[in-house]
Amino acid sequence: MKYADRMERLGTETAFAVLSQIQDFPPERREHVISFAIGEPDFDTPEHIKQAAIESINNNRTHYTPSAGIPELREAIAEYVSKQKNLNITSENVCVLPSAKFIINLSIATCTDPGDEIIYPNPGYPIYESQIRVFGCTPIAAPLIEEEEWGFDIDRLRNLMNDRTKMIILNNPNNPCGSVLSNRQLEALRELALQHDLWVLSDEIYSNLVYDNLTFHSIAELPDMQERTIILDGYSKFFAMTGWRLGYAISNPQLIDYFARWATNTISCTATFVQDAGVAAMKESMDPSWAMVRQFEERRNLICERLNDIEGISVTPPKGAFYVFANVTEACEKKGFKDSLQFQERLLDEQDVAVLARNFFGHKDPDERQEYIRFSYCVSTEDIKEGISRIKTFVEG
Ligand SMILES: Cc1ncc(COP(=O)(O)O)c(C=O)c1O
Repeated sequence: MKYADRMERLGTETAFAVLSQIQDFPPERREHVISFAIGEPDFDTPEHIKQAAIESINNNRTHYTPSAGIPELREAIAEYVSKQKNLNITSENVCVLPSAKFIINLSIATCTDPGDEIIYPNPGYPIYESQIRVFGCTPIAAPLIEEEEWGFDIDRLRNLMNDRTKMIILNNPNNPCGSVLSNRQLEALRELALQHDLWVLSDEIYSNLVYDNLTFHSIAELPDMQERTIILDGYSKFFAMTGWRLGYAISNPQLIDYFARWATNTISCTATFVQDAGVAAMKESMDPSWAMVRQFEERRNLICERLNDIEGISVTPPKGAFYVFANVTEACEKKGFKDSLQFQERLLDEQDVAVLARNFFGHKDPDERQEYIRFSYCVSTEDIKEGISRIKTFVEG
């Protein structure tokens, strides 16, 4: 028997390998590990959202729903997103799905054909490249530049575009860099998208996690962009609901119909009681989520301050998500490491601190001179202090 050729092209999120490595440690050592590797809130789902799901099950809300989601949820999302992103959205613009991640797959399946080129941010979330390849498209990595606060080099981006370019993927705020695209960058991206008639997949899963009193702007808010933009968003991060699997796409009604048809063909619909919980999350108080965001901002300040206090490590506080992407080039040189992956491996071996190297986040050019490590600050302030103090010993000691 032979597997499909496309399986050769299906990538993965290798970050999970580090987590299973820790799981294999003896229990006392596992206890000692401080992990900055996991990209999910360490907070629990707010109580009223859990109660809504429990009530829903008790009321036997356990049957199929329409493929695009229950009308109450589509309406609640439309109302919320219209305010949050300064857009005019109705439920026809919303498709509810069992994860935000699935929207990457559906967007490429719906808007591109084999041989098309798709531009994606690099460093970036590794699933983009994997999904581009599996559909027979060509991934074109667009470098994000540390000196541009991890935004695009727009001139370089322009040169990557040609008549085969069909889509550009944005991740705003960005994983792993924590960067938020400036209005200037959004304007330039809009111009390119219109000029080349591109689809824009705008992954905004971290859009409520922005700091320094920043107001988040979606590229879809700019003139003539709503029609060609697919906003990917969901409940995992802002509502601390990673395990619930609840996401939504916002786009034009035709594309939303196609997404619903994909849902009918694959998963039928999103779990009914999970959708009911989603309505409660949208309609009731979001105070617990905003309190979580404030804590993330404090942690960001703390982790950046402590990291910058280590010789050979530097980071400019990023404005969003819950990651910092620290430059460890000098620390690697000092320790004689060939790259950040060796930094990551030795740090776990010697100090029981888990982090993720640049290698996990998209294509790394052999001539890349700088080395980076992603820290997720989904850990308590005590763990941040202890973890970074161990890293200081590791680098300076
Ligand atoms: C950039 C980015 N997009 C999408 C997702 C997937 O979100 P979900 O868990 O809601 O499917 C993640 C999760 O880590 C992410 O970092």
